[in-house]
Amino acid sequence: MDHSQFQSNLTLGFNSHITSSSSSPRKPIADDSISLQINSSFRDSSNSTSPFPLQLLEQQCPNDDQLESGTNAAVVVSATLGQEKEEGVEENEEHLENEEDEEEEFSILGHPMCLKRRKTGETSSCSSSTSSSKRVMKDHELEMRKSAVRAWSNQPLCVADPDIHEIMEKEKQRQCKGIELIASENFVCRAVMEALGSHLTNKYSEGMPGARYYCGNQYIDEIELLCCKRALEAFHLDSDKWGVNVQPYSCTSANFAVYTALIHPGDRIMGLDTPSGGHLSHGYYTPNGKKVSGASIFFESLPYKVNPQTGYIDFDKLEERANDFRPKILICGGSSYPREWDYARFRKIADKCGAVLLCDMAHISGLVAAKVCVSPFDYCDVVTSTTHKSLRGPRGGIVFYRKGLKPKKRSQTQAGYNDQYDFEEKINFAVFPSLQGGPHNNHIAALAIALKQVATPDYQAYMQQVKKNAQALASALLRKKCRLVTGGTDNHLVLWDLRNLGLTGKNYEKVCEMCNITLNKSAIFGDNGAISPGGVRIGTPAMTSRGCLEADFETMADFLLKAAQITCIVQREHGKLQKDFLKGLQDNKDIVEVRNRVEAFASQFAMPGFDI
Ligand SMILES: Cc1ncc(COP(=O)(O)O)c(C=O)c1O
Repeated sequence: MDHSQFQSNLTLGFNSHITSSSSSPRKPIADDSISLQINSSFRDSSNSTSPFPLQLLEQQCPNDDQLESGTNAAVVVSATLGQEKEEGVEENEEHLENEEDEEEEFSILGHPMCLKRRKTGETSSCSSSTSSSKRVMKDHELEMRKSAVRAWSNQPLCVADPDIHEIMEKEKQRQCKGIELIASENFVCRAVMEALGSHLTNKYSEGMPGARYYCGNQYIDEIELLCCKRALEAFHLDSDKWGVNVQPYSCTSANFAVYTALIHPGDRIMGLDTPSGGHLSHGYYTPNGKKVSGASIFFESLPYKVNPQTGYIDFDKLEERANDFRPKILICGGSSYPREWDYARFRKIADKCGAVLLCDMAHISGLVAAKVCVSPFDYCDVVTSTTHKSLRGPRGGIVFYRKGLKPKKRSQTQAGYNDQYDFEEKINFAVFPSLQGGPHNNHIAALAIALKQVATPDYQAYMQQVKKNAQALASALLRKKCRLVTGGTDNHLVLWDLRNLGLTGKNYEKVCEMCNITLNKSAIFGDNGAISPGGVRIGTPAMTSRGCLEADFETMADFLLKAAQITCIVQREHGKLQKDFLKGLQDNKDIVEVRNRVEAFASQFAMPGFDI
């Protein structure tokens, strides 16, 4: 844009209290091109401060003084147009004294700026009156207050909070240099992270699309509706038969919303026992009867278990217990079950006792979407999931519920004896207002992005690889005579029973952590799980997201075996008790050696979403 046609007095100011101390005279500007002048604190003081045409300036790190004075200015500029003036405090004061100045706010490279235009014909001589100078002082003070907030609002994290920034950088390093084998973890892609860290976090939107408590939700509605559509598509569901709520903050909240919606406090639910691989949110009592989760505090829960010999769910016992207990909700799905779920058998049992069949597919939802394991949707009434495990989306929960006409048998047995499913309204109401407040719109947008990817052939290939990798890992461990629960896996995880090696899950987990391998201790049915879990759970989604293939998982199996050897030696020398055991880990050379190898190995693989 050519500004040379205009004739005006312009000062382009940012943080007018910071000005150049240079007293070098500035050349008159012949034309009206806006000029910028960098504050001398950012320049060599010997430089002339003559103005130059308006341009976008590169962001620089502020110096300490500026940080202290509350400016985040990478550039502090003042500009004059058509006016020859000394740069410095006086100049700014003079401008401020002109009560008739017009201000225009805008930003350059994210830095709030203020454009002041002096009214034509007015001169600084009008500022001589006391009342006007008081007003000017007030304006100045207001401007200072405004600019302080603006400066803080746009500071990058490294400036705004160096402490948190530094810790976050260390966490990045940890993620990149380690082997992540926690079965419930994954690495999201950059687009998901962008949505999570976005302006969508600013909006309140209690309610459902089209029926919000606050106004201004037209775009939030669009995002949530798109997310719901993609959720149904990702799981190949007919929108006449299934509905979905994408607002739960987590899967624990999603499960609790289902109970709140469909049954009354004190009613009975039945899920897989936690030591058998179930989840706390399906109801759990400790061996001494302590009710641990909301599911067991507010509802009556009775667990079913796996067969201690085979590790598979003991369906005969489950059926017998369910017929006696008559739960209103029967739950399938778990946290550490390495095999397929026999949904048809669950359905039969649920129908026999008139229960709603809920599947919590948190761990396997990615595999379900990619059709690399059996789908619960063919048999269940309600399906919940986390969105951040194998699905590889942002952290949160989701509920799918059946809509429309019930099969005849179910309308005669399930509570309410309705022909139609009536879950939609009840579940939506349970999520909000019963249990939650405003949805996390940044999460919902991020979930929509992840679900778009889930529906692609690339995602299907990714999930197939997750499963192949789990099988490669299982085979590598089995070749070394390790004992795996059920003898292998049908999904993304293996359960390694360490008891025959004389190891505790807790000690082994600690050694792995010191070698930069993260996995988690896990109860093995029949051990005294709560006190000393006898095994570990190992999952493949996260490292598959970093590009690891079968051969890489064989290498990881070698690291795991080496860590087991170290645990054996330290336990033998120092004992199993954690206090004594930990002493044996200090300055352990074998651990240092494995850790170095693990770091070198892991660093070869790209990290989705960020670089270090
Ligand atoms: C089967 C199952 N359900 C629910 C949850 C809880 O998920 P969230 O952490 O989102 O509450 C988990 C988490 O590990 C899980 O494995």
